[in-house]
Amino acid sequence: MFNKETINKFKSIPTPFYYYDVEVLKETLQKLKEESDKYGFIVHYALKANANNAILEIIKSYNIGADCVSGNEVKKAIECNFKPKHIVFAGVGKSDAEINFALDNDIFCFNCESLQELEVINELAVSKKKNARIALRINPNVNANTHKYITTGLEENKFGINIWELETVVNALKEFKNLQLIGLHFHIGSQIMDLSSFKSLCLRVNEIQNWFLSRKITIENINVGGGLGVNYHEPDANLILDFAAYFKLFNDFLELRPKQKVHFELGRSITAQCGTLISKVLYIKKGVNTNFVILDAGMTELMRPALYQAYHKIENLTSPRPIGHPSPIGEGVGVRYDVVGPICESSDCFGKAVTLPETTRGDIFALRTAGAYGEVMSSAYNLRDRVKAFYSNEI
Ligand code: LLP
Repeated sequence: MFNKETINKFKSIPTPFYYYDVEVLKETLQKLKEESDKYGFIVHYALKANANNAILEIIKSYNIGADCVSGNEVKKAIECNFKPKHIVFAGVGKSDAEINFALDNDIFCFNCESLQELEVINELAVSKKKNARIALRINPNVNANTHKYITTGLEENKFGINIWELETVVNALKEFKNLQLIGLHFHIGSQIMDLSSFKSLCLRVNEIQNWFLSRKITIENINVGGGLGVNYHEPDANLILDFAAYFKLFNDFLELRPKQKVHFELGRSITAQCGTLISKVLYIKKGVNTNFVILDAGMTELMRPALYQAYHKIENLTSPRPIGHPSPIGEGVGVRYDVVGPICESSDCFGKAVTLPETTRGDIFALRTAGAYGEVMSSAYNLRDRVKAFYSNEI
């Protein structure tokens, strides 16, 4: 992914920083649009994955909507010229101020997660003499077969309205005069690699649709959320995702009513592969059973390994002896290192026993597939400087 020229440029930029390959992002968006347009599907980008202005502006230019989970994300989407009628607002704990802001801006839809939330949105809409368009986020109790921290569609999770509550909610809606039910919303989890989980979702959506139909309630929009996973182990072989198979599956298995529109909320699958965390080796330290590579980036810049035991491919971009070339310890052999950050936490570790070419102080490292839930989840813990971002069309 990185040619010599780019690596040389990296050497002159203070590390750590995020590097975004704009071409990869554009190619991803191109493919995504081509495949979703085939079926007239509407895609919203989940800002939570990466909300950098430069990234949002590119995404917006492909005529994609915005999926927001806070008032500030709604604000950011509007600032980046997403039209309010293309913005959906989800989240299990929307504050009154956030709801008011979204009402004032006439967003497309609130994805609502509880009876009490519906009551509050109605009250606030009444006081503004407005109507709020809402979708019910239903917990479909479908297993996403992903990490437990990013599973959302099971009854044990805090998200959505459970199926056994639907009757009460639908009856209550009749009293909430300033709410207009325009859709059903689902999201079962993130980093889903097995497409059969999405098939199970479609089948459950069909059942739930029948439930609404039997009560003569028409639903214009079905929002199936996001969750399509990316290949963290072999990024170069899978830079652009198989959107064709993903969208085809929904077209094959969702039973749609006339004029019904299908919406998606994709985050990771759009931005993950275009982003890399670039870091410099500060020290090599001998341990008892292992050698440590100590980087100048840590869990403050990329929290996923510490939080979810997530794997990010680690590459040494500057070692003169890539694996397969002679090294002091033998022909074609790599060296095993624990690759860690500088933060005062034992969980500040990017990889254990990683085989790398022999590494020295000053080498430049790449932590791949970090464009989603990377920079946006970074922190200033240990009073670290906030991580910077550079774009391939700028450096
Ligand atoms: N819609 C809803 C309602 C969501 O909760 C999410 C993600 C998405 C859409 C976008 O999902 P995606 O297409 O990106 O999978 N920080 C975690 C991921 C948390 C995902 C939260 N919800 C990570 O680094 O893996």
